[in-house]
Amino acid sequence: MPQNIFILTGAGVSAESGLGTFRDKQGEGIWAKFDPMKLATPEAFARDPEAVLAFYDLRRRNLRDAKPNAAHLALARLEDSLAKRGETLTLVTQNIDDLHERAGSASVIHMHGELLKARCGRCEAVRSWLDDLTVAHICPNCGRAGALRPHVVWFGEMPLAMDLIDRALRESDLFVAIGTSGAVYPAAGFVAEARAYGLRTCEINLEAADNARLFDEQRLGPASEMVPAWVEELVGGSTE
Ligand code: APR
Repeated sequence: MPQNIFILTGAGVSAESGLGTFRDKQGEGIWAKFDPMKLATPEAFARDPEAVLAFYDLRRRNLRDAKPNAAHLALARLEDSLAKRGETLTLVTQNIDDLHERAGSASVIHMHGELLKARCGRCEAVRSWLDDLTVAHICPNCGRAGALRPHVVWFGEMPLAMDLIDRALRESDLFVAIGTSGAVYPAAGFVAEARAYGLRTCEINLEAADNARLFDEQRLGPASEMVPAWVEELVGGSTE
């Protein structure tokens, strides 16, 4: 039984909560409908901030109507059970939604940022932001307008908490990727790092990810079914 588990989640874990994924084999993901180079880069924000902010406003409104699904709930249960045994779960997500937290996960590392937060491009202050964001909004910290942006990591920007993530990978026994296509680095490279550190690796996904060959174990199917079943195998029967 692994003591310390490292889990990486992606858009697929929130798909059954009604939040679109970015890429899928049917070519119907978010990036098939919207151009990421026009909506998710710092250059795009400098060029056309209204369009970028409107895109994230839409996603923030969608998030408001979404609810955690059985996969999110099972991961919160796993965190709780492991903690009771003095073992650890490191939950790193590429998702900018708050469904892991709403499901009860106490510690979530958002390596690509959080949609329900805004950051000032001038003073870097980060704060909770639940409503639409426009260029007219003034940063409550530095008082300047037009620099507030969603606290998300855009293409070409450095992900967050990379030192913490690397340390947790080194200290874990098992690496599990859930609902991610393995198309975007550095997250797509974690499985190779995990192997280099001697961790066992498992993929839980609807379809094989681009880096599927790097996993020791593969469980294909919808996250809302596969994740609770996997968690039950790990902690079911234990005195939770
Ligand atoms: N259950 C499990 N897996 C699913 C489900 C589901 N119900 N639905 C889709 N998937 C899988 C798809 O098969 C795909 O492999 O989830 C994966 C989603 O892949 P992407 O859309 O590429 O999402 P992700 O890997 O999280 O993207 C990484 O790319 O666009 C950027 O910053 C964005 O964080 C994102 C990053």
